[in-house]
Amino acid sequence: MPFTQYEIKSIWKDLYKVAKERLGGLKNSNGIISGFNSNIDAVIAIDGKFIEKWVSELNIDKKQLFSAKNRSIDSEMDVIRGLVRCFKDGLAEEWLIKDESVFGWMHKNIGYDTLQVGGQAGIIANTAAICGVDPVYVHCSSLPKLQSELFLDLENLYSFDEYANPRKAYSIDRSKDIPLTHWILEFSKNDSFEVFGEKYVCPKANRFIATYDPLNFELHVDDSFNQGILKNNNPLDFIILSGYHLLSKVLPNGNSGLERIDKSIEVLNGWKAKNPEVCLHLELASTQDIDIRKYTAEKLCPIADSLGFNERELIDILDIIGAEELALRCHKNTHSPILFQGLVKLFHHTLCERIQLHMFGLYITISKKNAKISPEDNLKGMILAATIAAAKAATGTVYVAENLTWAFDKEISSVSVNELEMLTEYIGENYGSNTLTTEGIYLGEDFDIIVVPTIIIDNPVTLVGMGDTISSISLLGTKFLSEV
Ligand code: GLC
Repeated sequence: MPFTQYEIKSIWKDLYKVAKERLGGLKNSNGIISGFNSNIDAVIAIDGKFIEKWVSELNIDKKQLFSAKNRSIDSEMDVIRGLVRCFKDGLAEEWLIKDESVFGWMHKNIGYDTLQVGGQAGIIANTAAICGVDPVYVHCSSLPKLQSELFLDLENLYSFDEYANPRKAYSIDRSKDIPLTHWILEFSKNDSFEVFGEKYVCPKANRFIATYDPLNFELHVDDSFNQGILKNNNPLDFIILSGYHLLSKVLPNGNSGLERIDKSIEVLNGWKAKNPEVCLHLELASTQDIDIRKYTAEKLCPIADSLGFNERELIDILDIIGAEELALRCHKNTHSPILFQGLVKLFHHTLCERIQLHMFGLYITISKKNAKISPEDNLKGMILAATIAAAKAATGTVYVAENLTWAFDKEISSVSVNELEMLTEYIGENYGSNTLTTEGIYLGEDFDIIVVPTIIIDNPVTLVGMGDTISSISLLGTKFLSEV
């Protein structure tokens, strides 16, 4: 007899109890590096009226507005074009602003509701630090007061001063550094806009990011940070990396983006030599430049022990590893069975030990047989991640310790159960009978599969940084047991 939705929810409520002990255990970690991209996020909630206003004020015609040309920003019009694309299809994308004058236009005309720490590295560092990971070293290309004060005022969250000395990130003021600002335009489900006689309704709350960031665009690695890590003699558990998605093949200054990747690999090799047991995780993020995406898959994925991405990022990478047809199928039918096929393809392509997809309602990890991280630890880490992500979506921030436990007694959603059941059935038909629906683990012949259905928050207060939080907490939560 198959389980009812009600039974499945109640079984997972029990499994989710492990979140408490895993959260408590994070303080026993040996510490992490969070690199490379930290910046300032200027966040603003956008409604349909905003789009209507700018379409009319900028005099954009229908063809321009819906044009599928490159996903990058050369003029104000492209900001609205990107926003419209994401709003009407409920997508999350990040486009890079090439021209400084557009950055000025955004400052003057769009403004923001709040400033918060941004960039995968910045967000992961704050989240890991509030969860008790000690020490957290956060890489910053730029650290003026405006940026450093967005970090939490915590003793376990460090960066390095000009002399490569570790200091509380919150207190560093490298006053000559420039503030690197990204615009996060957030929109809500069911909001709508009407242009050229047609109405478009947003199917899913999400965000469009317009980024101008000269240092992170070059994957600038701060020399003091590098020296500081090389001087540090305490072993670290994880290097969690992102920021490659901001590169382009030809950088704004004419240099090669591919060379910057090579350069960062040299730095990483130095860090790995100092920390031979360290686990290196790469968060793929929305990478628009196809050559950078290809080079990342070719050069970086092989040195990573773990990869993290969402559905869109998976599709984008499938597109460049010779799986265009599968990418298209994932795009047309973004559900767990087909995305899982994409995951398997990527797993075989990269030969990475652990790859993890966080999709709407479900997290799926494929892990090599006898990997360093066991399937049980993966499951527990993923449950902790789902709990923290729900708390973040519901409360707007997990940078306040009380909020971390908000989702401890919450139930997984029906959408998640459906995705889980679809996947279970697919695995049953193609691999073998399994108990994924109720246990979340399938030990296969070639690899193990770990799945966790999630708690979905219907009207999230925020979505930015969700993927970073999920990937990093999933990983950190694999390792540390509570003291008994
Ligand atoms: C990208 C953006 C950054 C944002 C982050 C959230 O890195 O550039 O502004 O904070 O994504 O995931």
